[in-house]
Amino acid sequence: MYKIDTPISEQDFAQYFEMRWKMLRQPWNYPLGSEKDEYEQVSQHRMIRNHNGDVVAVGRIHMNSSDEAQVRHIAVDKEYQGKGLAKLILAALESVAREEGAIRLVTNSRQISIPFFESAGFEIEKEAPNEFGKLKRQQMVKRLSSPNTILLHPKWCKTLQDTWYETIPISEQMGIKIYQYSGRTLETRASLNKNINLHGTMFAGSIFSLATLTGWGMIFLQLKEKGLVGDIVLGDGNIHFHKPITMQPRALCNIESFNGKFDGLLKNKKCFIKLQVAILDGDTPVAEFSGLFGVLPISEDAEEQLS
Ligand SMILES: CC(C)(COP(=O)(O)OP(=O)(O)OC[C@H]1O[C@@H](n2cnc3c(N)ncnc32)[C@H](O)[C@@H]1OP(=O)(O)O)[C@@H](O)C(=O)NCCC(=O)NCCS
Repeated sequence: MYKIDTPISEQDFAQYFEMRWKMLRQPWNYPLGSEKDEYEQVSQHRMIRNHNGDVVAVGRIHMNSSDEAQVRHIAVDKEYQGKGLAKLILAALESVAREEGAIRLVTNSRQISIPFFESAGFEIEKEAPNEFGKLKRQQMVKRLSSPNTILLHPKWCKTLQDTWYETIPISEQMGIKIYQYSGRTLETRASLNKNINLHGTMFAGSIFSLATLTGWGMIFLQLKEKGLVGDIVLGDGNIHFHKPITMQPRALCNIESFNGKFDGLLKNKKCFIKLQVAILDGDTPVAEFSGLFGVLPISEDAEEQLS
C-alpha cells in the first residue's frame, strides 16, 4: 500500500524536485531549476515513494489568501499512473487546505490533466495566465464548503456508517460519525451531549463503544482496500482512561498500530488483528484502547449475497 510522505531532509527535497522536473519541465526542454518557484518555502509538499524508496508521485499546496489555496505541480511517474496515486496526493493537499481554513481550492491545469481534476470535483473557471509561453492552462476551482466532507473513499465510509446504524442502532443514538479517512487513519467523533453522565463528562461505556467501533471500522476499510471480505468480531478489548472528556469526543485509529495480517482470509482461515485507538478530547489525548479483533472468512454463498 502507498503512503503519503512529507519531504523533510535535503535529500528528500532533492528527490522530490527531481521528480517534478522530470515530469513537468524536462519533456519541454526547460532547464534544471525551472521546476521551482518563489512559493516553495511557504508551501506544503507531499510525495509518495515506491517500495525501493524512489519518489513516484509529488504535489504541493500554498495559500493564495486566507480562504483560497492553490494546488500546483502534481505529477505521477509514468509507470505508476492510473493507480490512484495522484488522487491520494490531492486528497492529502486538500486536507491541508481545509485545515488552513480554505473554502476555495484552485489549480491551473494543462489541457491533458483537466479530466483528472474534474474527476476530483474541480470545474473550469477561466483561462489561466500563461507562464511558460506554449502551454495553455485553465484555471479550475473546487469549492470546499463543507469542512468535514470525507475525502478518500466516501462511498466505503458511507457503507460503514450505514452498517453501524443498521446493525448497532445505539451507535446512531450516541451520535457516532465518521469524521475523516485518509487511507492510513480513521477518525470518528461522537456527540458529548448524547453520552453525558452525571458529572457532565462522557460516559466511560460510550467511550469504550466509540473506540471499539473505530477499530472495527478501520479493519472494515482496510479489508476494502485489499479487496477482501470477512466478519469482524472483537475478541478482547482494554481501555486506560487518563482524563474525562468534557468537550469534543474523538477517536483515531492509525494503521501503524496494526499488528497482524489478513493473508489467512485468502486461504479461508480466520485472522487476528491487534490495534490501538487513541481517544482525544478536542486535541488532548485522554484514553487509549487496545483491541484484539478476529476476522472470519465469509462463505461463498454469503459473499455472493453481500456483493
Ligand atoms: C494527471 C496525473 C497527475 C494523474 O495521475 P494518476 O496517478 O494517473 O491519476 P489517478 O490514478 O490518481 O486518477 C484519479 C482519477 O483521475 C482520472 N484520470 C487521471 N488521468 C486521467 C486522464 N488523462 N483522462 C481521464 N481521466 C483521468 C482517473 O480515471 C481517476 O478517476 P476515478 O477516481 O473516477 O477513478 C498524471 O497523469 C501525470 O502526472 N501527468 C503528467 C503531469 C501533469 O500533467 N500534472 C498536472 C499538473 S497541471
